[in-house]
Amino acid sequence: PSLLARPRTYATSTHATSTAAAADPIVLTESRKATPNVHNGKKTLVLLGTGWGSTTILKTLDTSKYNVVVISPRNYFLFTPLLPSCTVGTTESRSIMEPIRHIIGRRSKDIRFYEAQCTDIDMSKKELVLEQSTADGAPDQGTSTRINYDYLVVGVGGTYNTFGTPGVEKHACFLKEMGDASKIRRRLKDAIEKASFANISDAERDRLLHMVVVGGGPTGVEFAGELHDLIAEDLRRWVPELASKIRITLVEALPNVLPSFDKKLVFYTERMFKKIGINLLTGTTVQKVDEKTLTVRNAATGSETEIPYGTIVWAAGIRARQFAHTLRAKVPDVQTSGRGLIIDDYLRVQGTEDIWALGDCTVSKNAPLAQVASQQGKWLSKAFNHMALDGNTDAVNGSSLIATKTKPFVYSSNGSLAYIGGEKAIAELPFFNKSIVAGGPLTSVFWKAYCLWELSSVRSSLSVATDWVKRAMFGRTISVD
Ligand code: NAI
Repeated sequence: PSLLARPRTYATSTHATSTAAAADPIVLTESRKATPNVHNGKKTLVLLGTGWGSTTILKTLDTSKYNVVVISPRNYFLFTPLLPSCTVGTTESRSIMEPIRHIIGRRSKDIRFYEAQCTDIDMSKKELVLEQSTADGAPDQGTSTRINYDYLVVGVGGTYNTFGTPGVEKHACFLKEMGDASKIRRRLKDAIEKASFANISDAERDRLLHMVVVGGGPTGVEFAGELHDLIAEDLRRWVPELASKIRITLVEALPNVLPSFDKKLVFYTERMFKKIGINLLTGTTVQKVDEKTLTVRNAATGSETEIPYGTIVWAAGIRARQFAHTLRAKVPDVQTSGRGLIIDDYLRVQGTEDIWALGDCTVSKNAPLAQVASQQGKWLSKAFNHMALDGNTDAVNGSSLIATKTKPFVYSSNGSLAYIGGEKAIAELPFFNKSIVAGGPLTSVFWKAYCLWELSSVRSSLSVATDWVKRAMFGRTISVD
């Protein structure tokens, strides 16, 4: 049947009334059965997520051509490159959170946003099940709502991966969301304040002041660098008797940190870490985390050691979020990768119709990088804009239209950057067919300029710049309420 013939749009199974349906052009009655297409011929494009991919679509789509609905349990876009710096107060949390309603407000008042988790999908009815989010981001059971889509873009992103390591979920902090950064700040503050008590033993003080980072990817390295800065630039001033006792250990399973970076930058980072006193345990895998100790195994010798810790931050990799797996389970014969949604060169979710996916919840030849998701978002919005120009409202399968009229998505790397602490950063930038590598204080200036440039709004750029000036003048604070 023609796509137009279907009742398009969403139905709120809990609250919608026929009065609401009449007043609101896109809310349908509970049954949806007799409601004509009230969308002025526009298709409903549902974007799941408010991360790099979906937000880029929102910014570049011709929103007058679609009924755009954004669904995410997070009502802001998070500028993730500066998340590690929020854990130690170099940057304030709100500075890197851009309210999604601000972004929507700049595009069109007709775009709808629902703060909710998409928990299920019925592909035959083109229907999504939403659970409203609670303050901590968990689905609020009992507030289930259903909405319809014509086109669905899944950009639900990734979450931390414990690889089933015992004790990690219970005892470790993660570094994926703003709530994680606040939790780390609280743990650091608690450990330092507790260690200042006179009646605790030296061994217990050493344990409390031992900060362990698991994972030598960019997240772990950047966090370790920021942590070093907090200790060297602030704690030495405010709690000198404790600062000298604080130790940072970074545990990495592979022989070197930053496996995706150029070897020169890997060695530079490892040298710098050694110089600034970050203890590197490479070739070492974390086997188990208990309340006060972690167990590591040395790959070369096979020996296991117990290490006492005060704070542990798990940055050992990511995996796709639950909704990606829910969708995979609908087409198990095609979606066979446990890492996420298999997509083709047109970002179409294999085995489905009119569903696209991008970013960290997908499996493709591209790495799970913010710039990949962002470029995919640009590509997809361009494809949707093309589709609108070509008269998308006719009964044409959206997936095939995109495939025939648009060139496949090709990722073009703009390079990699990472802050490594001590006012130094590393960069690997494409230069014609080669890449140039750089590391040091100048690269750190470049990294900062990149962050200010890439932040999603003038408000965010100004806030971050102000945070950096405040930090330079008055130091950091890890106070938490
Ligand atoms: P990652 O996957 O890049 O690194 C995780 C590291 O943890 C790996 O090197 C792995 O060997 C290690 N590991 C895993 N299990 C372990 C265990 N039990 N014990 C010890 N080590 C263990 O993860 P990350 O850093 O969270 O990055 C995720 C993605 O985001 C990557 O694609 C990364 O390139 C990208 N990213 C890039 C950034 C940048 O370019 N500045 C910043 C942050 C993330």
